[in-house]
Amino acid sequence: MPPTCMVTGAAGFIGSRLAGRMLREGWRVVGVDAITDTYDAREKLDRVEALLRHPAYRHLGRDLALSPLGRDLDGVEVVLHLAGRPGVRESFDRTPDYLHDNVRATEALVRAATRADSVRRLVYASSSSVYGDGPVPFREDGPTAPISPYGRTKLEAERICLRAAGDRLETVALRYFTVYGPGQRPDMAFRRFAEAGLAGRPLRLFGDGLQSRDFTFVDDVVTATRLAMTADVAGLAVNIGGGSRVTLNEVVLLLAELVGRPLRVEREAVARGDVRHTVADSERARTLLGFQPQVGIAEGLAREVEWLRRRTAPAAAPDREPVPA
Ligand SMILES: NC(=O)c1ccc[n+]([C@@H]2O[C@H](COP(=O)([O-])OP(=O)(O)OC[C@H]3O[C@@H](n4cnc5c(N)ncnc54)[C@H](O)[C@@H]3O)[C@@H](O)[C@H]2O)c1
Repeated sequence: MPPTCMVTGAAGFIGSRLAGRMLREGWRVVGVDAITDTYDAREKLDRVEALLRHPAYRHLGRDLALSPLGRDLDGVEVVLHLAGRPGVRESFDRTPDYLHDNVRATEALVRAATRADSVRRLVYASSSSVYGDGPVPFREDGPTAPISPYGRTKLEAERICLRAAGDRLETVALRYFTVYGPGQRPDMAFRRFAEAGLAGRPLRLFGDGLQSRDFTFVDDVVTATRLAMTADVAGLAVNIGGGSRVTLNEVVLLLAELVGRPLRVEREAVARGDVRHTVADSERARTLLGFQPQVGIAEGLAREVEWLRRRTAPAAAPDREPVPA
């Protein structure tokens, strides 16, 4: 009998790619997603449809905070917890929703996982936002000081997961650094910029564009998460960065090359909660997970633009990215 894992947030950008990877590896996958209102539901439903074409995929349409899991965890060995409410700016206006989807949902899931006999490990998708605007590079054993409700709820959820580690249940928190690539969420900068560039519209850039990020390609994040299912990292937080520290202005130049025309940039004030720089110290990921990012920014961005071109082509087929091979 093939092993079973659960992917929460399976309709999401990263969760759907992770679920696809696990199916390709021969696992049975139980996906959970509430299809929350963060962006166009069609995009999430297309990903679920693609996953459902695989016979080893089962989907539960559930809000983890409202309908706690019970027998649904029977036989599940590993829980990959990616469900959550992302987005820094929105979190100032909708803090209760962030508490619900990031903190309450995690509490309920961890409680259920602790009671389930079969579950041996839970991997949580935390965020570089837990560090706030501190000095870079960010180290896992250094200070955490989130400056947005999003960052605070991710840190709280991470603590809930790590505190639950016991004799039977092992827990790990992966701090993902800005993830991009095919399937990226429509609210994220690369996607907004690339869509505007391809359509010949000006793009809106918050701040002077000199803010930098440790951008991480989605398939590298999936690989790191896969490694965290078995590596000797129980009880720890681990940074997952892509190793490409790039400013937003540099991204705009790269995108102009990919799109084949100069991009018009409309600058706006620095957004609330926007940190100046993020850089991961990747020592733990390298030594404990054996993780080494494979895709650099130029190649990763080209793949995202190519995905968007296909998606916006007149006779575009529905998004088939996460379809397991
Ligand atoms: N994308 C990034 O750059 C990034 C960086 C750091 C951390 N993360 C974390 O990784 C995870 C996945 O991010 P993403 O970019 O794929 O986001 P996403 O919004 O595409 O995916 C999250 C999914 O979780 C689901 N969900 C939310 N609340 C739920 C609930 N209460 N019950 C069940 N399902 C629920 C949503 O419907 C959505 O499909 C999130 O937890 C996010 O905080 C993402």
